[in-house]
Amino acid sequence: MNTKIFTISVEDTASPAISEAAELLRNGGLVAFPTETVYGLGGNATDTEAAQKIYAAKGRPSDNPLIIHIASPEEAEQYAYTNETYYRLAKAFMPGPLTVILPKKDSIPQSVTGGLDTVAIRCPSHPLAQALIRAAGVAIAAPSANRSGSPSPSCGAHVIHDLNGRIDAILSGGECEIGLESTIIQLCDNKATLLRPGAVTADALRCVCEEVAISPAVTEGLQENERPLSPGMKYRHYAPRLPLVLLDGDEDCVLSFLLHAQNAEKCVILCYREETEYLRNERLIDIGGKQELNEQAHRLFAALRAADGMDADIIYAHLPPKDGMGLALYNRLIRAAAHTVLQV
Ligand code: TXA
Ligand code: MG
Repeated sequence: MNTKIFTISVEDTASPAISEAAELLRNGGLVAFPTETVYGLGGNATDTEAAQKIYAAKGRPSDNPLIIHIASPEEAEQYAYTNETYYRLAKAFMPGPLTVILPKKDSIPQSVTGGLDTVAIRCPSHPLAQALIRAAGVAIAAPSANRSGSPSPSCGAHVIHDLNGRIDAILSGGECEIGLESTIIQLCDNKATLLRPGAVTADALRCVCEEVAISPAVTEGLQENERPLSPGMKYRHYAPRLPLVLLDGDEDCVLSFLLHAQNAEKCVILCYREETEYLRNERLIDIGGKQELNEQAHRLFAALRAADGMDADIIYAHLPPKDGMGLALYNRLIRAAAHTVLQV
């Protein structure tokens, strides 16, 4: 398949590329587009065939449901049974990097929700995503626009690398500001449960919802025979080709471990900016300032892709803290590392 690639700047919401992409979506085609979190691979959310094409293009198991993207929070009414908490969250965080899971209405086919009777709703703030959804005139079902198992794409080049030739079009609109996928909160049975941490932190959610439980799967592996709240939890995600090991310990101990490792083995090191003056490894990747968790999030997936392309035997990275934005980094890295943590 010949994939049309439109290179477009973030502000260019009036570009003819948007109308062309919207037309493709209305006709059942697939279009990848930027959001403030990561790029999405979009198809008409009410079209079963479009959903099937999304699963095929990604190589994704069809029991792993898709997120429905809308242009304004009220549009959720067409697709889900909303509640008061949804609107409180919407007021605080939408448009933005938050996905809310609600009981679904019949307008969304089961093929989109992997057979579940709930649906994930997200209203992205990225100007091109907003313009595309409005121009399409339909909600857009979109998982992250990567091949299943590789890191989510945080810039147009990642999408082109993974999906060129497999979908109808790519709106290549630069780097995603946040770089990690949206926070997912489930609102069902009067309970709020955080299923995936993201830029809307657990503390921020707790300012709006009184009680937010954090699903144990956010930090731990699924227990044997445990039924995941989110089907995505059961798949190995963001799996680099090289083994990834996370280092836990005092700053000084981690640094001396790395100083030794870079001489002893062929390793890629994802390090803090402050460490670059001490580490002199040719396979060093600066992940951002030690305290700059937003910057680290922004750079993480590109760093993992770059690390994986290097001639090495192993990747080392710091174990992130578990609070604030750290929890989102922790969640992505611990899964990419298949829970391999080394105490140093
Ligand atoms: O930032 C994001 O959320 C990006 C952009 C494109 O919006 N999308 C994204 O989609 O990350 P995806 O498909 O890669 O991840 C969605 C996760 C999956 O783990 C899926 O299992 C879960 O959301 N999910 C979707 N619908 C669900 C539902 N009804 N119940 C529980 N989990 C659900
Ligand atoms: Mg994904």
